[in-house]
Amino acid sequence: MRSKDFLSISDVTIEELEALLERAVHVKQHPEQYRQALAGQTLAMIFQKPSTRTRVSFEVGTWQLGGYALYLSGTDLQIGRGETIADTARVLSRYCNGIMARVFGHADIEELGKWATVPVINGLSDLTHPCQAAADFLTLKERRGTLAGLRLAYVGDGNNVAHSLMLAGAKLGVSVSVATPPGYGPKAEVVERAASDAKRTGARIAVEERPEDAVRGADAIYTDVWTSMGQEQEQQERRKAFAGYQVSAAMMRLANPECVFMHCLPAHRGEEVAAEVADSPQSVIFDEAENRLHAQKAIMVELMGKR
Ligand code: CP
Ligand code: NVA
Repeated sequence: MRSKDFLSISDVTIEELEALLERAVHVKQHPEQYRQALAGQTLAMIFQKPSTRTRVSFEVGTWQLGGYALYLSGTDLQIGRGETIADTARVLSRYCNGIMARVFGHADIEELGKWATVPVINGLSDLTHPCQAAADFLTLKERRGTLAGLRLAYVGDGNNVAHSLMLAGAKLGVSVSVATPPGYGPKAEVVERAASDAKRTGARIAVEERPEDAVRGADAIYTDVWTSMGQEQEQQERRKAFAGYQVSAAMMRLANPECVFMHCLPAHRGEEVAAEVADSPQSVIFDEAENRLHAQKAIMVELMGKR
């Protein structure tokens, strides 16, 4: 990869993203070939928000590559007492070979990338979740062989996960239709960026209001929580706004018969997805969770591994 960091899908070219997924397939199939890939290297993992998958998959993944990962909570670091991100980035760069961070504002991850002399990986910001999108398209690629020409429908909040799916889908030739209630759509600049990349791959990027319009004929229906981390005070209002946006069995029937159900997890059964859908044979939610490990190992090998 040309970029030092992996902060957004926008940081990688179409060719780099395709190569990353190929690498992830190889890492998954031949883990033994990567046991020394990060030998003697350390990854600092900064978490300003909770996590199950990101923390465990990065920690286990680093260990499987022969390296060592340190968990650093935002409240324990001096950042919590006002030390700047710029200083933290420069200090951690003197001890560690890479930094993975989960932050609130996307500007914080960009600031880390700007000042760190080692690679910085975005483990989720309010704007994007690129590691999740990499794992999700790896999951679809395993199921369907080829990604180009597939159609993914995203129903729910136009949030960080939706943004990364649009950006990655556009680059991989997967059409992405997002259905959100008014006022909860994806950011215009992300839609424009995805639409511009999509011109090169033939994908179609669409934002609609009616879930039925987005899901008809889809190869994957994806949803995420209605209330993301940091939005807890809006929970009641969001529950009202998103009524009618639950992925139900009836909605799944409007899609292609081979359609899979996708969710980045954690899921709230009975809110954004019906339990019978999340736990149906069409659901690939635990494959997505597993593929976080393989996709992120590939990202670390590309950014931190010896070339
Ligand atoms: N999907 C995801 O990032 O999960 P965690 O919040 O558990 O890391
Ligand atoms: N949109 C969710 C994703 C969690 C993995 C959030 O930001 O909380």
